[in-house]
Amino acid sequence: MLSRLSETKMSHAFVRAMNSGLIGEADTAILFYDLSHLRERIEDLISLFPKSALHAVAVKANSLTKILTEIKTFDAGLEAASLPELFLAEHAGFPPEQIVFDSPVKTVQEIAYALNLGVHINADSFAELERVSELQKQKPSKSPVGVRINPQVGTGTILSTSVAGEYSKFGIPMKSHREAIAECFLKYDWLRGVHIHIGSQGCEPALLMKGIETVLMFVNETNERLRRAGLQRRIDIFDIGGGLPVSYHRDKEPFQMSQYKEEIKFRFPDLFTDKFKLITEFGRYIHANTGWTASRVEYVKEEQHVRTAMIHVGADMFLRKCYRPEDWHHEISVLDSKGNIKTGKDEKKYIVVGPLCFAGDMIAREIDLPKVEPGDYMVIHDTGAYTLSMWSRYNSRQIPKVLGYYEDGEKFEILRERESLSTLWEFWS
Ligand SMILES: Cc1ncc(COP(=O)(O)O)c(C=O)c1O
Repeated sequence: MLSRLSETKMSHAFVRAMNSGLIGEADTAILFYDLSHLRERIEDLISLFPKSALHAVAVKANSLTKILTEIKTFDAGLEAASLPELFLAEHAGFPPEQIVFDSPVKTVQEIAYALNLGVHINADSFAELERVSELQKQKPSKSPVGVRINPQVGTGTILSTSVAGEYSKFGIPMKSHREAIAECFLKYDWLRGVHIHIGSQGCEPALLMKGIETVLMFVNETNERLRRAGLQRRIDIFDIGGGLPVSYHRDKEPFQMSQYKEEIKFRFPDLFTDKFKLITEFGRYIHANTGWTASRVEYVKEEQHVRTAMIHVGADMFLRKCYRPEDWHHEISVLDSKGNIKTGKDEKKYIVVGPLCFAGDMIAREIDLPKVEPGDYMVIHDTGAYTLSMWSRYNSRQIPKVLGYYEDGEKFEILRERESLSTLWEFWS
């Protein structure tokens, strides 16, 4: 059973990093990644699905190049949602067969580039399929091509990351375009795959499976039409996207990938046969629980009913948490200046704020914490996905140092040095 990292493990790794001299005075915030845990997650995923499946881990969830190269050491691939992400995947050394290119707004040049490289491409619209068609006429490519379908099975609890409602900016809606999508498969002999992605975090596995079911029915129906038309081809690539929710709460058991896989296999056994090449695009499941963030508490402001702990990361790294606090959650622990876990509960509640110049820069509102003092470290749990990769440049704060570690801190690796002021200057130049 794969679960979240415990407070004790984080404290151990923190103390070891401190004792190894890895946390300097300037490191007011440090990001940690448990690379042993990352390995477990990927190995778990790979072991569950058929050997032929391609696990294209979503670059957008965590784009650190050293993490990408770490992923490369397993037999996994990457999902790139933009041309620069495709560049990252290529430069991390992934072969074209292990890259899936999914951007919803691809230019002709970008499509031509991807076709030339031979990566798997998922087209997002009819217009994009036409562009692929034109380019295929000019120079046939060995890229497997799929089309993203919105199965319109409903939204989950987080609207901003739900993409399979009646309306979505992504993919081709199934209800109004079923026939037209099928005709594309009859018309384009290079079109082999379907792609779905239902949402991220807010969608229960049952909703994800409803999406698979809806599109699989369409695939079976279309394959029958291809057969009756005497065509020798069929839809044989099924990309189920990502979206398996993880636990961000101390007291919530996460849904396990093994359960998800068992349910898919039980309900849609064909997807586990050689009739299909399966593609997955998990991001959060791989990364979220492997990372955590420690920030020194610089000040504690006193008010009558509440204390405000002022730390060194905020809405620059926790965009979602600060802008949509009702949708996103991170557990918080407090370590003393030596890295020991503080326990107990202060008589006052705490507001935890970042260093940015705007009032919404709050990562926790009126929560219970042990007594917090300046010089303590605030530990924000489960920050491995959609945090650093969404870094905002507002107030030009420097991106903190990123430490990777194995076996609770027996071995460390600097994944990224704290951003230098000269790099910052370059960014704005
Ligand atoms: C097309 C696509 N695939 C995969 C993912 C990864 O989703 P998750 O990180 O929830 O697994 C996303 C995330 O939004 C996505 O848009």
